[in-house]
Amino acid sequence: MTKITKDTQENKENKDIQEEKTVATLYDSPEGQIGSVLFGGHMHWGYWDESNSTDNFAQGSDRLSRIMIDKTCITKGQRFIDIGCGFGLSGIRLAKTKGCRVDGITISKFQQESAMKIAKSEKLLNKVNFLHGDALALPFDNDSFDGGWFFESIFHMNHSAALNEARRVLKSGSILTLTDLPLLSVSKNDDKFKEYVRKNIHSHFISVENYPDLLHKSGFELIKIDDITSNVMPLLVLKLTEAISTYKEKIYKFIPNPEKSIDNWIYLFKYMSKNLGYIIVTAKKR
Ligand SMILES: C[S@@+](CC[C@H](N)C(=O)[O-])C[C@H]1O[C@@H](n2cnc3c(N)ncnc32)[C@H](O)[C@@H]1O
Repeated sequence: MTKITKDTQENKENKDIQEEKTVATLYDSPEGQIGSVLFGGHMHWGYWDESNSTDNFAQGSDRLSRIMIDKTCITKGQRFIDIGCGFGLSGIRLAKTKGCRVDGITISKFQQESAMKIAKSEKLLNKVNFLHGDALALPFDNDSFDGGWFFESIFHMNHSAALNEARRVLKSGSILTLTDLPLLSVSKNDDKFKEYVRKNIHSHFISVENYPDLLHKSGFELIKIDDITSNVMPLLVLKLTEAISTYKEKIYKFIPNPEKSIDNWIYLFKYMSKNLGYIIVTAKKR
């Protein structure tokens, strides 16, 4: 009995290691690198309403970044952790806007090096730092941070393991903000969709109803869930198609099999916008 439990644990650990490597491979690949061109340096989706519906993908991504910054309660001199920081743009802007210190971490070496280059060019190395590493084993002491976020990154990780690790490094009472793409009712039992996103973008999506219990079990108190699905999903494919056409020359130069990649992106974005919502979750470490 003990042996079976041990083997299962080892298998799980091996699977987790493979999973991490593939997420890194995804973001370090030419397709992963071009994402920052299409999305204006960000690696998250965009927010559009009546006031900015003609904005392109990059402007929509920038708007979502500003919304997330407004949601944080971090103040001058405090320390903030950006878990799954991408190219660091939102973290850098947060440090500039709020005057806090930001430590970011990404599993992609290419992203981490690019984020450090941007920080250096902005003369912000005294305020921000970006590490190459795993969000499930953060290289920080317990109770180190006054706030943090997972900005479109938690679905690449095991939700509960990621939240437990975030709780460990956050101080008691600090605010955690995250964006996530919850499964819509139609897709909750759609194993084909779940398998597709697991295989192709190494993502595991959960339902919005899972959040209260998940947060509670990970030592957080849920404060608020903002459902912004209608501001993100309806324009997603149109904005992606426009961005692809704007950057077609770059894509063709940079990507080995551009037509296939473009088809895959459009298929993926269509499939995701049919099956997923978009939420911003605010929680407090108990
Ligand atoms: C969709 S991108 C979002 C990036 C960034 N937060 C943004 O808004 O532009 C997902 C990010 O999660 C990071 N990520 C995924 N799994 C990770 C892990 N286990 N540890 C650290 N970072 C991870 C990826 O490297 C990538 O930077």
